[in-house]
Amino acid sequence: MKLIFLGPPGAGKGTQAVKIAQTYQIAHISTGDMLRAEMREGTKLGKEAKDLIDRGELVPDDVILGMVKNRIQKEDCKNGFLFDGFPRKIAQAEALETISEIDYVINIDVPVETLIKRISGRRMCASCGAAYHVSTYAEPNCVCGAALYQREDDKEETVRNRLVVYERSTKPLIDYYIKKGLLHTVNGNADIDTVDAAIRAVLSK
Ligand code: AP5
Ligand code: MG
Repeated sequence: MKLIFLGPPGAGKGTQAVKIAQTYQIAHISTGDMLRAEMREGTKLGKEAKDLIDRGELVPDDVILGMVKNRIQKEDCKNGFLFDGFPRKIAQAEALETISEIDYVINIDVPVETLIKRISGRRMCASCGAAYHVSTYAEPNCVCGAALYQREDDKEETVRNRLVVYERSTKPLIDYYIKKGLLHTVNGNADIDTVDAAIRAVLSK
């Protein structure tokens, strides 16, 4: 199974992707997580991406496509994969068509007030990548034991720009995938289990 999770920053793409990837035994490919790992490791790519990410701008297509092409060759992608945060613009979607087919595009729909609440309370694990929210998990450490941190690009000003970039560059993918007959929109403005059930209902059709 080959899936795309589409949605604005804070929609819950990562939260839902972890569960679905586990059930279907497919690789969870988050281009954002991959870029954050490059930044943590201090690689050349990570250093080049940092300034753009901290401003909430998109990283160049050739960098992203190079990472994705490489990633889908890995052994854990043999049953399929779930793209979380990719593609993020029409040019990336067109390039993806030349390297892989896609079975479903799940668009997680969440109103902007909810997105801001979710992002401002998000805490991440640097070790396993799990995302928490301060309203439901007040511990300083992840269940895996590593310390939680707030993402640099979750500061208010950057979040505002990420939402503008989403509207301008990523939202047009909704129409793009409607025309391809691949888009399924789920209501993401509900608790995590309800959203999970809505996604599973689409995938079991
Ligand atoms: P990326 O890491 O992909 O960030 P994003 O798309 O902005 O999305 P987020 O990770 O912020 O949100 P999410 O939808 O995963 O929500 P989450 O599950 O964490 O990208 C970061 C940057 O990298 C980009 O700005 C860009 O610079 C660069 N980049 C990445 N990919 C790129 C690409 N393809 N091309 C170019 N540049 C690229 O949930 C959010 C919070 O809400 C959490 O606290 C969670 O616990 C909570 N939550 C989730 N669901 C629920 C729910 N149902 N109810 C209550 N709380 C919930
Ligand atoms: Mg995410």
